[in-house]
Amino acid sequence: MDSLDALFSLRGHRGLVTGASSGLGVECAHALAIGGADVALVARRADRIEKLAAELKKKYGVHTYATACDVTDDAAIDRALASIRAELGEIDILVNNAGISPTGPAEKFPRKDWDATIATNLTAPMVLSQKVAARLIELGRPGRIINITSVLAAHGSAVYRLSSYTATKGALANLTRQLAIEWARYGILVNAIAPGWIPTEATAGGIAKPKWRERMETFTPMARLGKPEEIRGAVIFLAAPAASYVTGSTIAVDGGYQAW
Ligand SMILES: NC(=O)c1ccc[n+]([C@@H]2O[C@H](COP(=O)([O-])OP(=O)(O)OC[C@H]3O[C@@H](n4cnc5c(N)ncnc54)[C@H](OP(=O)(O)O)[C@@H]3O)[C@@H](O)[C@H]2O)c1
Repeated sequence: MDSLDALFSLRGHRGLVTGASSGLGVECAHALAIGGADVALVARRADRIEKLAAELKKKYGVHTYATACDVTDDAAIDRALASIRAELGEIDILVNNAGISPTGPAEKFPRKDWDATIATNLTAPMVLSQKVAARLIELGRPGRIINITSVLAAHGSAVYRLSSYTATKGALANLTRQLAIEWARYGILVNAIAPGWIPTEATAGGIAKPKWRERMETFTPMARLGKPEEIRGAVIFLAAPAASYVTGSTIAVDGGYQAW
C-alpha cells in the first residue's frame, strides 16, 4: 500500500448504508461514494434516499440504488438485500447507521419506545450484519461492517433522558467486539464509530435549547458541536484497505468528549 489510492480507494466495492435519508447516514453514503464504492441506500422515506442516490451518482460517478426499508422488519430486509444484489451486486461494506433516540424519564419510560429502540438500534444491526456476513462467508469473500454507536455507548447522557438509547448503544458497542472476534477468521472486519454531539434531525430539538446546547459544548473539549460531514473520514478509513488490521475498534468522532 504505497499510494493514497492503494490505502483509501473503495473502488470495486459495494456499500450499504441504513438510515441514509437524513443526518449522519447521508454523510456515510457520501463517504463511501467519495471512496469510489457503489452505494445502496435504505430508510423508510423513499423520496429522500432516491434523491440522494441521484445526487451521489451525478457527483461521484458511482452506481447507486435506493430502496425503502424498515430495518425492524426482517422480511423487508430480505427484500431490500435481494433487490440490492440484483441492482448493484454483492454488498461487502455495511454501515449500520439507522437509529432512534426517544426521550423520557426512566421511571415512566414507555414500553413501546423501549421496544422500538431495541428493535432499531440493536436488533436491526445484528440481523443486517448476520445476513450480509452469512453471504460473504458462503462466497468466501472479505467484508467490512461499521456500526454507528455514540459517545453515549460508554457514558450516560448529561443532557437528555435516554435510557433506551444509552442501553442499546452500549450493547451495540459490545456486539461490535463480539462480531469482530467471531468473523475475523473470515476476513470480515467489524468496527464502530462513536459520534459526539452533531446537529441532525435527531438532535435539532435539544440543540435549539440554549442551555442544552451549552451543556453539549461544555462537555466537549473542543467546545463546539461536530459538523455532520466530519464523520466521513472515519467511514472511509474503516471501509478502506488502510484499515486491514483494524477490527473490534471504535473510532470516536466527538471533539474529545470521551477524553475527559
Ligand atoms: N447526531 C448525533 O449527535 C449523534 C451522536 C451519536 C450517535 N448518533 C447516531 O448516528 C446515527 C444517525 O443519527 P442522526 O443523528 O443522523 O439521526 P437522524 O437524522 O434522525 O437519522 C436517523 C436515520 O435513521 C433512519 N431510521 C430510523 N428508524 C428506521 C427504521 N425503522 N428503518 C429504517 N431506517 C430508520 C431514519 O430514516 P427514516 O425515518 O426515513 O426511516 C434516518 O435516516 C444514529 O444511529 C444515532 O444514534 C448520532
